[in-house]
Amino acid sequence: MVKMPAEVQETINKQSPVPIATADADGKPNVVFVGFLRIVDDETIHIADNFFDKTAANLLENPRVSIVAYDGGAKKSFQVKGSIEVVAEGPVYDDVKVWVHAKSKALPVKAAVIMHVEEIYNAMYGPDAGKRIA
Ligand SMILES: Cc1cc2nc3c(=O)[nH]c(=O)nc-3n(C[C@H](O)[C@H](O)[C@H](O)COP(=O)(O)O)c2cc1C
Repeated sequence: MVKMPAEVQETINKQSPVPIATADADGKPNVVFVGFLRIVDDETIHIADNFFDKTAANLLENPRVSIVAYDGGAKKSFQVKGSIEVVAEGPVYDDVKVWVHAKSKALPVKAAVIMHVEEIYNAMYGPDAGKRIA
């Protein structure tokens, strides 16, 4: 795992909703928006699965995700990639459920997705676009 620098965390924290890319076992890509995404420590992100369909199937077949965030004011953009675990019980699931239900008790919280950050890239246009930073 790698640690997200402060500027990466700040950029993600300002992005809402966050695009989440997954792929099926054949590599067919899929991207969705998620509002319920939060950084829980330097190496870990939690995502709430309320409505995942193709995304949930992809996570079972191919447990990896990529997210991208952009801060137009700071002129920064980063891609973060990682491996995931999906949990539907236990302390992380319980925490995610409390977080989601604080916003709306109507949301189903089918599962919690734990993302372990493994790669970070600069995605801002310019000479450093695409360069790995962690
Ligand atoms: C603004 C916005 C925020 C969303 N937030 C979430 C979310 O936090 N969790 C979730 O499960 N789905 C969320 N969705 C729904 C997903 O984007 C998507 O519709 C769902 O995963 C079904 O697509 P799929 O079949 O590609 O998985 C959100 C959609 C929008 C437009």
